Amino acid sequence: MRVSSATAPQQVTPEPASGVRVRSATAADVPAIFENIGYWASQGKMLVRPIPSIFENLRDFFVAEVDTPSGPVFAGNGSLHVLWGDIAEIRGLAVAPDVSARGVGRALVAACEAEARRLGIPIVFAWTYSVGFFEKCGFTLIDKSRELHPRVWSECLRCPFFGGCNENGLVKRLEGVPMPIGLPEPPPAQVPPGIR
Ligand SMILES: CC(C)(COP(=O)(O)OP(=O)(O)OC[C@H]1O[C@@H](n2cnc3c(N)ncnc32)[C@H](O)[C@@H]1OP(=O)(O)O)[C@@H](O)C(=O)NCCC(=O)NCCS
Repeated sequence: MRVSSATAPQQVTPEPASGVRVRSATAADVPAIFENIGYWASQGKMLVRPIPSIFENLRDFFVAEVDTPSGPVFAGNGSLHVLWGDIAEIRGLAVAPDVSARGVGRALVAACEAEARRLGIPIVFAWTYSVGFFEKCGFTLIDKSRELHPRVWSECLRCPFFGGCNENGLVKRLEGVPMPIGLPEPPPAQVPPGIR
């Protein structure tokens, strides 16, 4: 069964918490994004993302800011990468450690979902170690050993943990976004060994 047909509709993620704003990233944000992802990668919470990859995918990225007495301050980043006509992946989601548990992560996920809706993409997917957070955002944990949308494995060949993947996959069907009609079939997946 494909991800696209395996999931029930879920509620839309709520609006961002007050004092948190999310905007599209600009080139000037790249050093902060790189540093933030690098911090969490050093904690073993996500994979490192090289600066060239952030620049190349800059249009995918959102940045969150929180208000402080001296003005808005960088609070985190996340990106939505289109995988196919029916599915997009949340990548590089990282909240600055000093603003955790203030709704920043949820606001970034909401921005990614809004972007998927704007593009007419009905399914949002994520690989992560933070299962509980995504469940709070309305995502459902998937069984990796089942047949999934072939495009969810698109980055795995470049991953250092290709042969020993321990990330979890979660998916959310965006309510009210219809499945696009007449999509071409995606190419076959290169699934990491040991998954099936
Ligand atoms: C996971 C992460 C994005 C959460 O960001 P955050 O801004 O602290 O989360 P929010 O404040 O928006 O939390 C939203 C909800 O999720 C819950 N939550 C947050 N992190 C959680 C976790 N690790 N496990 C379970 N629940 C979690 C919160 O309690 C909150 O629940 P509530 O609505 O009932 O109060 C952030 O901790 C982070 O960047 N972690 C490291 C990188 C990472 O794991 N990225 C994920 C994709 S690779």
